[in-house]
Amino acid sequence: MVIKLLHVTCALLTLVSFCLRGVWMLQDSPLLGHRMTRTLPHIVDTILLVSGVTLAIRGYGAFHQEAWLMAKLAAVLIYIVCGVVALRPGRSRPVRATAFAAALLVFGWIVWVAHTRTIVFPWDWKFAS
Ligand code: HEM
Repeated sequence: MVIKLLHVTCALLTLVSFCLRGVWMLQDSPLLGHRMTRTLPHIVDTILLVSGVTLAIRGYGAFHQEAWLMAKLAAVLIYIVCGVVALRPGRSRPVRATAFAAALLVFGWIVWVAHTRTIVFPWDWKFAS
C-alpha cells in the first residue's frame, strides 16, 4: 500500500514537472537549464520506476506474463523517448512541441492502462451495464 502510494505520488510529480518543463521549453526559458530542473526530475523518475518494478514483482511475480504491464512498460519507453526529444535542445520548436504533446498523450494512456489493467484504448472502452 505504501509503495503504491509512493508510486502514484511520483507519477503525479512526474506529470507536474514534465508539464512545467514543457512550458519552459515553449517559452525558451533559461529555467529549463537550471541545475535543479536537470536533477530533481531524474530522482522522482527513478523512484517512480523502482517503485513500479517493485509493485510488479510483489503483486504479479512473473510479471512479464501480464500483457497490460508489458504494454505499460513499452509505453513508458515511448514516453521517455518523446520526453527526451521534447526537452533536449537541438531540434526545431515544432518537432519539440509535437513530441511534448505526444508524450502527454502516451502518459495519459499509461495511467489508463495502470488503472484498468487491460490493454483497451479509451475509444474502445465499454462500460458494463
Ligand atoms: C510514467 C510511468 C508510470 C506511471 C505514470 C504510472 C502510473 C501508475 C498509476 C497511476 C497506478 C495506480 C493505478 C490505480 O490503481 O488506479 C500505477 C500502478 C501500478 N504500476 Fe505504474 N506507472 C508508471 C510506471 C510503472 C512501471 C515502469 C512499472 C513496472 C513495470 C509499473 C507498475 C505498476 C504496478 C504493478 C501497479 C499496481 C497495479 C495494481 O494495483 O495491481 N508502473 N501506476
